[in-house]
Amino acid sequence: MQYGYFDDTMREYVIERVDVPVSWTNYIGVRDMCAVLNHTAGGYLFYKSPQYHRITRFRPNGVPLDRPGHYIYLRDDESADFWSLSWQPTAKPLKHYSCRHGLSYSTYLCDYGGIRASQTHFIPLDDPIYLIDVTLENTSDQVRSLGLFAYAEFSYHHIDFDNQNFQMSNYCSSSSYEGGIIEYDLFYEPDGYQWAATCFEPDSFDCLRDRFIGVYNTESNPVALQNGECSNSFEKTGNHCAALHKQIYLLPGEKKRFVFMIGEGRREDAQDLRTKYSNPEARDTARAELAAYWQNKLNALQIATPHAGMNTMLNTWTLYQGEINVMFSRFASFIELGGRTGLGYRDTAQDAMCVPHSNPGKCLSRIKELLQGLTSRGWGLHLFEPEWFLPPTEKKTPAKSPTVVPVPDTSDMIREDLRDTCSDDALWLIATICEYIKETGEFSLLDEQIGYADGGEGSVYEHMTKILDFSAEQVGATGVCKGLRADWNDCLNLGGGESAMVSFLHAWALDYFVELCRYLGKTEDEAKYLEMLEGVRATCERELWDGKWYIRGITKNGMKIGTQESDEGKVHMESNTWAVISGVAERSRGLSCMDAINAYLYTPWGLMLNAPSFTVPNDDIGYMTRVYPGVKENGAIFSHPNPWAWVAEAKLGRGSRAMKFYDALLPYHQNNKIEVRQSEPYMYCQFVMGRDHTAHGRARHPWMTGTGGWAYFAATHYMLGLRPDYDKFVIDPCLPGDWGGFTAVRRWRGATYNIEVRNPSGVEKGVRRITVNGSEVKAVPVCPEGSVNKVVVEMA
Ligand code: NOJ
Repeated sequence: MQYGYFDDTMREYVIERVDVPVSWTNYIGVRDMCAVLNHTAGGYLFYKSPQYHRITRFRPNGVPLDRPGHYIYLRDDESADFWSLSWQPTAKPLKHYSCRHGLSYSTYLCDYGGIRASQTHFIPLDDPIYLIDVTLENTSDQVRSLGLFAYAEFSYHHIDFDNQNFQMSNYCSSSSYEGGIIEYDLFYEPDGYQWAATCFEPDSFDCLRDRFIGVYNTESNPVALQNGECSNSFEKTGNHCAALHKQIYLLPGEKKRFVFMIGEGRREDAQDLRTKYSNPEARDTARAELAAYWQNKLNALQIATPHAGMNTMLNTWTLYQGEINVMFSRFASFIELGGRTGLGYRDTAQDAMCVPHSNPGKCLSRIKELLQGLTSRGWGLHLFEPEWFLPPTEKKTPAKSPTVVPVPDTSDMIREDLRDTCSDDALWLIATICEYIKETGEFSLLDEQIGYADGGEGSVYEHMTKILDFSAEQVGATGVCKGLRADWNDCLNLGGGESAMVSFLHAWALDYFVELCRYLGKTEDEAKYLEMLEGVRATCERELWDGKWYIRGITKNGMKIGTQESDEGKVHMESNTWAVISGVAERSRGLSCMDAINAYLYTPWGLMLNAPSFTVPNDDIGYMTRVYPGVKENGAIFSHPNPWAWVAEAKLGRGSRAMKFYDALLPYHQNNKIEVRQSEPYMYCQFVMGRDHTAHGRARHPWMTGTGGWAYFAATHYMLGLRPDYDKFVIDPCLPGDWGGFTAVRRWRGATYNIEVRNPSGVEKGVRRITVNGSEVKAVPVCPEGSVNKVVVEMA
């Protein structure tokens, strides 16, 4: 069953059937003000922090689905019939509904009762203002008298004060109306103001939610819509909203354009912005600037391959997903409701690794934030607020509640006994830093001095050595790295037991670092870390190989996880893919362990994390044995490691196999299987129910998953083989043999490379000849800034 389609020309996903099984969401805003919005305009808005500075309220996980939102209602003043332009909340039988989710905007089209309407929700790049740009057209042959109502419900700013404790929030919030502008105020907060307005002078308004809706009504049938006007309410204390109403007339065929605005700041801050955005031209300009912002990112790489789904996803959606994760740091969605902010160490490092070409600025700032969250022993704070490390003057800590809520001290996070330390966290950062330098050529970063979380400072290069040294020290009985609180898998809690994945990750990070030392001519460190790498390699091959594949780890009681004898959790993705990616597995072992993944973990919906799922709780292994079989970390198709398998297969030279795995997970291919998949087909989800679950194929937790970044990185760097290096651009594709080639346009260090890959003899891997602007070269060099270069690569 299909609910919509990809519009490649517009780079939009178009939902045409409104009753999708779960919310299909989009992210609006790319800087300080942001909203998460679904296909019926349900969602929430925040400024800088979804935890401390929410603007509109959200009642998640409820029925009806995911309300409230940012709504425009119309009322026919003659018949008293009313409807909402995004179908919900009134749910009237629209003659036409569609929702176009685009890059940082969503447009809803609706046709009902002879009125054709469109509304686009977006946030201009440089102003903290949420806009709903509405166009109405009278398609009937009658003059129409309509009530236009714009509505949003304000939230108490702090998510806890909004959900748990109303002692202060409910009695310290107020609203007022003056000169067409509603002002919302949280009296106990120094910066507790928002405003809302329209381009018109309203005929009536409501600032009190319960007066607009009525205490026994819902957003579906607000009292104000039933009455045809608002009650001009405002008050100190209570629950507040911005409801603005205007009576309008439309002649047959006439079109009119309006705007509803929600802004950050006080009423006096609103005047200029209200004037500016009341002008439709200013809105058009802001839309054009937003489009240019995204176009600039997309221009960093565009591909044309024989695979339509890959083109659509890599050219637009997968990069979009990766970028949004870096911007929002994974914590604002309809699943993670914004109550947990800051940076997750491993997540941020991986997300940042995937976008240095499209977002070098954010990638760099994330790298620096993570370096500050590194302790001088070399492990990273698993979850932290970058502002902990800012000088006190720059901190923007949330307003304090008069009710005492103890705030954890930063020092609580730095526990010497490593009780909260994850064994993988900081290892990811080595690759992120190297990939950033390969993209930008900014070697000077390595010499920058950065503080450690527990005091003192050192160069970026020194931070990197500490990360590698920490993993070398933290080994268990066999010499394999300890699992500690968890490794990448939150639910594998081995403590002093050992994690195969972390040793392989250690080898991967070492390999990056040795290559960097070699490039920098740091021969002593090159030798030192090469020796460390060889040691890790030998330990892994000795301790972790189980005859056909690699085990996942060893519990603190010496039990091996993921062996040929295991009845449950026999084969695992993380250890086997990383054995190959790290370069540790020698070729025959690499082929064999990836064959095991194919044999035990492949499903038409993607690769499962492990199989068979655990059914017997075992606390030596961890929480994954207490998750239902086929769900999340216990035997689901956990999406994030799937791209690791594409990289591994590409490294082994098996292009068809890599593509088989890529295709299985690709949401694009599931566009007509929504009765099973349920979630939006333009986004990877965190997981898809595995074979051991009754809802096998159902996808959950869209957008905020490392899958976006990794899918992009794996497919572009390893399947298409387009990889920047320190002093050259590597082109080393691994393709299905039936691909005759592909083309790509890549921006790198200020130059443009028009790349054509030819595969005349249908091989899966291997490059015979490269020419740049007609001359044969060994590798594609760094070309002068501003130059446009033709690169032809012949595979054989
Ligand atoms: C989601 C977490 O955000 C991520 O850090 C972790 O690696 C995966 N779950 C797997 O457990």
